[in-house]
Amino acid sequence: MYDYLVVGAGLFGAVFAYEANKRGKKCLVIDKRDHIGGNVYTEEIEGIHVHKYGAHIFHTNSKAIWDYVNQFAEFNRFTNSPIANYKGELYNLPFNMNTFNKLWGVVTPDEAKLKIEEQRQAAGITEPRNLEEQAISLVGTDIYEKLIKGYTEKQWGRSAKDLPSFIIKRLPVRFTYDNNYFNDRYQGIPIGGYGAIIEKMLEGIEVKLNVDFFDRKEEWLHSAQKVVYTGMIDQYYDYAYGVLEYRSLQFETKVLHDTANYQGNAVINYTDPETPYTRIIEHKHFDFGTQDKTVITEEYPTEWKPGDEPYYPINDDKNNEIYKKYKALADSEQRTIFGGRLATYKYYDMHQVIGAALTEVNREFGE
Ligand code: FDA
Repeated sequence: MYDYLVVGAGLFGAVFAYEANKRGKKCLVIDKRDHIGGNVYTEEIEGIHVHKYGAHIFHTNSKAIWDYVNQFAEFNRFTNSPIANYKGELYNLPFNMNTFNKLWGVVTPDEAKLKIEEQRQAAGITEPRNLEEQAISLVGTDIYEKLIKGYTEKQWGRSAKDLPSFIIKRLPVRFTYDNNYFNDRYQGIPIGGYGAIIEKMLEGIEVKLNVDFFDRKEEWLHSAQKVVYTGMIDQYYDYAYGVLEYRSLQFETKVLHDTANYQGNAVINYTDPETPYTRIIEHKHFDFGTQDKTVITEEYPTEWKPGDEPYYPINDDKNNEIYKKYKALADSEQRTIFGGRLATYKYYDMHQVIGAALTEVNREFGE
């Protein structure tokens, strides 16, 4: 009999298992995939760490979380500075003085502020009724048309006029010549890939891959004193209150044998509506790779249906109401702990999921 059965070898499951193991608890970790790491998994192709489930850049403002994750790996100095490609015109992201200079030829922050203010006023939107109006009221028409509209519509599969304004609460606008996407103090990519971190966390812990909890749910539930469940919460309850919806992604990965450097940057967003993908990732640039080949991945947002890989929860009123019902059931469980992005129906960045797992550990072990 195990103390804990951990369903899911992603970051949440791995942190929980590591901490429980450290406290002398016997854990078994199962995952239905053929690898550990969940969505942060990187696969080595041609000596390049390929981010199999989308670009993953670790960033946090918390020294405690940064120190925690640095126990398991050394991080490189990668700084995320994505570029937007709008019909062949290239712009720096996030929106900053480099972007404004390219768009309008403005040089000083005051000139840029004036330009945005003019466009906001010209649009005359006081109460935005949808995402398009919200974005224009925040940053004006030019940035919206070239850098937001096409990307967002592809991302959500709907016209920006039909998307709720709350999706964009604010848009980071920076009046310095600073292309660093994140404002956080700490940022980087683990040297050796994310897999190495998870491997270290799970060192000395029994792990079974290619095992789906639902193939033998009752048996698994009785294999341990407690279960830490990081899969989809609606599936755990057999969809009793309905299916929680997601947006999905499809990744097309290509090895380019004849070029060592395809796009000169790790992440390029395609912000026009015609290009079917939202971005191209060139993985070697995360690690400053010098291989003579390169690997790129095109990222296509797709509709999600049950059975597809769930990526982004659709946290609208309808789904949030359904989730609330499942959460009430989960809160009444004595022996199952629900954690991670799928069991709490929430988008988490990596530092947040580590934080959430450590909070759960403290609660569980009364610390
Ligand atoms: P995760 O999904 O990783 O793990 C759950 C595990 O449970 C999976 O391995 C799954 O196979 C397993 N499982 C589910 N059901 C099961 C069952 N029935 N039986 C057995 N196993 C089961 N964050 C960040 O900080 N910086 C970034 O740049 C990015 N980039 C990014 C890009 C994209 C496209 C997405 C979608 C997400 C990001 N993230 C991110 C977020 C990051 O991916 C996220 O924080 C973690 O992967 C969450 O870890 P979890 O353990 O919660 O879930």
